[in-house]
Amino acid sequence: MNKNSVTIIDNKNNKKYNYPILEGKRGPDVVDMRSFFKDSGMFTYDPGFTSTASCKSQITFINGLEGELRYRGIKIDELATKHSYLEVCYLLLNSKLPNKDELENYDKELRHRAFLHRGLTNIFNAFPDNAHPMATLSAATTALATFYQEHLDDKDYITMANRLIAKMPTIAAFAYRHSLGIPFIEPNIDLSFSENFLYMMRAYPHGKLAPIKDVEIKALDTIFTLHADHEQNASTTVVRGVASTGAHPYVAISSGISALWGRAHGGANESVIAQLEMIGSVENVKKYIDKAKDPNDNFRLMGFGHRVYKNFDPRAKILKKLQDELRDELNLNSKLLEVARAIEEIALSDEYFIKRNLYPNIDFYTGIILTALKIPKSMFTPIFVIGRSVGWLSQWIEFKQDSSSKIARPRQLYIGD
Ligand code: CMC
Repeated sequence: MNKNSVTIIDNKNNKKYNYPILEGKRGPDVVDMRSFFKDSGMFTYDPGFTSTASCKSQITFINGLEGELRYRGIKIDELATKHSYLEVCYLLLNSKLPNKDELENYDKELRHRAFLHRGLTNIFNAFPDNAHPMATLSAATTALATFYQEHLDDKDYITMANRLIAKMPTIAAFAYRHSLGIPFIEPNIDLSFSENFLYMMRAYPHGKLAPIKDVEIKALDTIFTLHADHEQNASTTVVRGVASTGAHPYVAISSGISALWGRAHGGANESVIAQLEMIGSVENVKKYIDKAKDPNDNFRLMGFGHRVYKNFDPRAKILKKLQDELRDELNLNSKLLEVARAIEEIALSDEYFIKRNLYPNIDFYTGIILTALKIPKSMFTPIFVIGRSVGWLSQWIEFKQDSSSKIARPRQLYIGD
């Protein structure tokens, strides 16, 4: 018997089934159960995929028990403090950090690709003024597939990815400006990726705006980096699922955007600030912590808990430090900050949260920083989308280039009539 294997015994008939163990470079080993149904006539049951590896990947590694996150082997702390978001995009797509020339060329390419086809610009006018930017973003990303109908073979995957990464901030800024009924601001080719996004959000027509501070650009760039990828989360699983059917990549990303919108996932950042505003003051915190702990109340503390991290989310640690650094320079909302700090303090010492390993996640900290950057709540999740697009695209390409990829088609335990 191969020692590097797992044996399953069916106690009904003492039949034994043996499966090889696949060893990853880091993280838990994986039992290769692909032939289990053929061998035994049974399925495995794992709603929510709590114990199922859906693919092999070389992109991102998370050790949830130690609070560790790496993109292409490099620790997130190093990427967030020593490299720009554009370098991180290049790393995720090309498996290596760019040298000086490569970075310059990449930067130039993305600046030139940031503009939208006029036809696409017209689409925004079809939506009501009060449309949530996430809905508009998803629709406009699907619409992009009508303007770029190629990309269904593997020759220009990187061009396809760079085009969408470059356009996503423009689509997001247009979605926001449409929701206010104010004129769109075209990308400014003289500005860097993150500065250009703030410019498109804030400027008046003809380019007038108060100077954008370097600390604001750096803070936003760091937020993009921290959101760039997160291995097989819900929206990435959706992107890979759509990829598995052979649909256009931009449609797959649009589906990822829709999946991200929910408040259990990326939509949590908007809900965190809404919840802090609802709690209102430090005196009310205990009441809401008690509600979160009450098994008969479905109230949850937004920005707490994570499927994978059973320790501090490393992205949250970096943002907490950034909040402290920005507190004076950006005039962070001290009332919200006070309430947030009180929640954090009580929750981290409360038996309920300790027992369930519920720590603040990335979304608990982004909202206060984004508010200081004058970004409204409805744009928090679109900012997650801008940062995450490169991750979805890297995962889409990896899926396409993996010869063992198959159409996503789970089974079920039928309990009906
Ligand atoms: N507040 C109060 N209790 C919670 C919370 C919370 N935020 N999160 C989990 N629990 C409890 C839950 O009630 C359950 O308790 P019990 O064992 O008594 O039934 C236990 O902790 C385990 O929860 P779960 O729902 O089984 O855990 P999960 O891994 O399926 O869900 C989660 C993970 C992130 C959806 C969940 O923690 C949650 O809803 N958090 C709030 C939303 C949020 O902040 N989402 C952002 C996630 S990070 C950004 C991203 O990558 O998307």
